[in-house]
Amino acid sequence: MALQIIVGMQWGDEGKGRFVDLLSKDAQIAARYNGGDNAGHTIRINDDVYKLHLIPSGIIYPQTIGVMGNGMVINPQILINEIRELRDAGIEINPSRLKISYAAHMITPAHRALDLAREAHLGDAKIGTTGRGIGPAYADKAHRIGVRYLDMLKPDLFKEKVTHILNETNHILVNLYNSEPVDVQKIVKEYLEYASILTPYIADTSKIVSDALNEDQLVIGEGAQGAMLDIDYGTYPYNTSSSCLSTGAMTGLGIAIPKDVQVYGIAKVFQTRVGSGAFPTELFDEQALRLRGDGSQQWDEFGTTTGRPRRVGWLDLVLLREICRLNGVNALALTKMDVLSGISSFDACVGYGTTASPVSPLIVDESTAPEYQTFDGWQEDIGEVRQWQDLPEAARTYVTFIEKFVDVPVKWISVGPERNSLITR
Ligand code: IMP
Repeated sequence: MALQIIVGMQWGDEGKGRFVDLLSKDAQIAARYNGGDNAGHTIRINDDVYKLHLIPSGIIYPQTIGVMGNGMVINPQILINEIRELRDAGIEINPSRLKISYAAHMITPAHRALDLAREAHLGDAKIGTTGRGIGPAYADKAHRIGVRYLDMLKPDLFKEKVTHILNETNHILVNLYNSEPVDVQKIVKEYLEYASILTPYIADTSKIVSDALNEDQLVIGEGAQGAMLDIDYGTYPYNTSSSCLSTGAMTGLGIAIPKDVQVYGIAKVFQTRVGSGAFPTELFDEQALRLRGDGSQQWDEFGTTTGRPRRVGWLDLVLLREICRLNGVNALALTKMDVLSGISSFDACVGYGTTASPVSPLIVDESTAPEYQTFDGWQEDIGEVRQWQDLPEAARTYVTFIEKFVDVPVKWISVGPERNSLITR
């Protein structure tokens, strides 16, 4: 038993949820280590589909404890709604099953307002954030004025801290961005109510996860977003504000590097991105429409959190190889292979030639020009394929090429949105 970390290899939305679902079946703990409600994962309970943003999706298994790590920024209102939604769906969520790190930081409506005001102020240079207050909440953490979940345990102090942060943010909203202030009294009142609901869930999650690992239990580390949105190694500044890499699991859960750790990287066989920033292999022609879909299917490329159409393009193997190294990926899962069916040929980026950054392959910008390798497509519908040898030869050639190029074995290939639409090698 070990820590198994599931991390996105691209700009998020790689389909991590399915693998969290698969691996959490036998896990004692499913732990989120970064981000907030900017993430969105779709889970299915019986015939119903739920969209969760905060609670680790592994919690749908009755033996699994959900942990929300100190690396997260958590909007308490969204969290309470998710707890209610899951309860209504028949999933019992109580303080013995869901643990919030006392060191996790809190998002307020003022953070959201500031996120939106900053984006509006940036105009064409905007990051394209999800507007959930993620950046401002992490900034307050770094400024050491953030409100932590621990503060909920002392209502007077909590009230004082929430009031302080709302007033400070209002000052910036009004005086720097010419925006409307938030209603401090109303929010403080609401936050005191949230505190009375959430206090029993606050725990020393660092100890809980460490103890579980020491007792040889299986812990799933659920990464949110994707490695190319990482605060340090993402396409800065067009990224998110947290540590999205596998190594973020250690700091974001408060654990030492375990003896036995497996990192599973999830990558689409093409690429997508929401928001602004460089995307060297982006497509704009009818191929783009085809890869994105028209939004009528749940598998189509529209954001879970914001509904925005995703930008789409060919797989960038140069970035993928570097991201695999950075994350220490042991095995890859390739998703959405079925979407390539019916295309006569398609491309993958294998170099940047003279436009490559002399410093790192991860440094890409608008001038980065991809060099492509073209692959033969296949016409067969592969949605029902469950065995590697039953895939069309052209599909196997593509997968084998990817493995060789990035020097990581491909363990899973998904061929459709259903839970069992999966080839395991
Ligand atoms: P923020 O995390 O809301 O600050 O947004 C920063 C950037 O990360 C924007 O380009 C967002 O579209 C992107 N982003 C944040 N979370 C996700 C996610 O879960 N999936 C895909 N993109 C995301």
